[in-house]
Amino acid sequence: MAGKEKMLITGGNPLQGVVHVSGGKNTSVAVIPATLLCDEPCTIENLPDIQDVYALVDILRVLGAKVDYVPGEFMKVDPRPAEGWQVDYRNAQRLRASYYLIGVLLGRMGRAEVAFPGGCKIGTRPIDQHLKGFNALGAQTEERGGVIFAEADRLVGRDVFFDMVTVGGTINVMLAACKAEGTTVLHNAAKEPHIVDLANFLNSMGAKVKGAGTDVIRIKGTPYLHGSTYAVIPDQIETGTLMIAAAATRGDVVISGCIPTHMEALSAKLLEMGVRVNDSDDAIRVRMMGAHRAVNVKTQVYPGFPTDLQQPMSALLTTAHGRSMIEETLFEFRFKHVDELVRMGAQIRVVERTAIIEGVPSLYGAPVTTTDLRAGAALLVAGLMAQGETEIYEPEYIDRGYEHIEDKLRALGAQIRRESID
Ligand code: EPU
Repeated sequence: MAGKEKMLITGGNPLQGVVHVSGGKNTSVAVIPATLLCDEPCTIENLPDIQDVYALVDILRVLGAKVDYVPGEFMKVDPRPAEGWQVDYRNAQRLRASYYLIGVLLGRMGRAEVAFPGGCKIGTRPIDQHLKGFNALGAQTEERGGVIFAEADRLVGRDVFFDMVTVGGTINVMLAACKAEGTTVLHNAAKEPHIVDLANFLNSMGAKVKGAGTDVIRIKGTPYLHGSTYAVIPDQIETGTLMIAAAATRGDVVISGCIPTHMEALSAKLLEMGVRVNDSDDAIRVRMMGAHRAVNVKTQVYPGFPTDLQQPMSALLTTAHGRSMIEETLFEFRFKHVDELVRMGAQIRVVERTAIIEGVPSLYGAPVTTTDLRAGAALLVAGLMAQGETEIYEPEYIDRGYEHIEDKLRALGAQIRRESID
């Protein structure tokens, strides 16, 4: 990106029309590294055109893979020339999901040296459960100087019991286990839609993964994985953010190309608030007229209310009638957007891991700064619903996870643009 920018939103326009959801970020960032487990070229479709995807393209190329990426169309990865096993600090810091290279490179090369991952600073985010899983499969792991060193003469399938439900840990150990001898059983596995999607991709290459989407996943290792063409699922969090934005602006929006069953926790909350939500096979229509009621939200692992939608949801709740409480159970620093919402006139107090929101009649535009991806989504929603102009600084956080978001919102009637800052 050229220089620093800010996003400018003039709020108050109800969003109206049809918007198409892009491919899922959190599934793409697992599927792209997984191509390195394959023994033939693979083609991935429906990838979102976002910064995390570009970071992974660079990482795969440094490792020696041949990557042909045409944004909006396909990514073809030929993993055969890849002989590297190291991901340096600068690349690993570009995204959280760089840690999937540990599982993939252990499976492919029997060793990995990957700098500790970057990503949003929303908590301490340890990866002890990933390492515990690799160790159970027979790998030695060590963290030294901010780098994770992992090595295994051979990986052998075992039972892995996660101490807590972890999306990243489930994915990472699943990736390595595809190349282990024998069967690995992951207990207390995460059930998020992108875990099922990754399993479907791995199985499309000939892997033997069963039970994804439940809390016990069985992976029978296979020595050879063949090429595949695979389209990733639509983004659950983009879908949810657009649903919230539609409600927040008292709009009428059809979100097409999504999977409504992935959205049930959010849809139920919106209905409880008085928002109209109608599902069809692959679309959701969200309408809101008049006032909306306060609700309480507690973030949980899937199928509970997703932590990634907690921040945009809190923006919507700033103008609900009554007092809402949001309890964040997964990440300890995921309320950094609250101070920014308060600048815009919101009344919010955070007590430990709970945000207490007293509904106000409206928000007002103000200069605000994004601190992480979903904080950025919250400020976008707030800017769209506020009176007057909101300036969002550090919008590049938003680009990490939302494809062409300004174009999509503008097509729905939002007044939104970017300016470079001298
Ligand atoms: N945890 C540990 N040890 C571990 C792993 C996790 O203590 O080894 C803890 C974490 O600190 C956290 C909880 O377990 O308190 C859950 O963490 P999880 O591993 O499930 O999260 P993650 O893999 O780091 C992914 C998404 C996040 C999303 C969470 C929860 C990716 C790349 N990231 O993170 O997405 O919030 O799952 O659904 O898939 C985002 O998209 O904005 C985002 C942050």
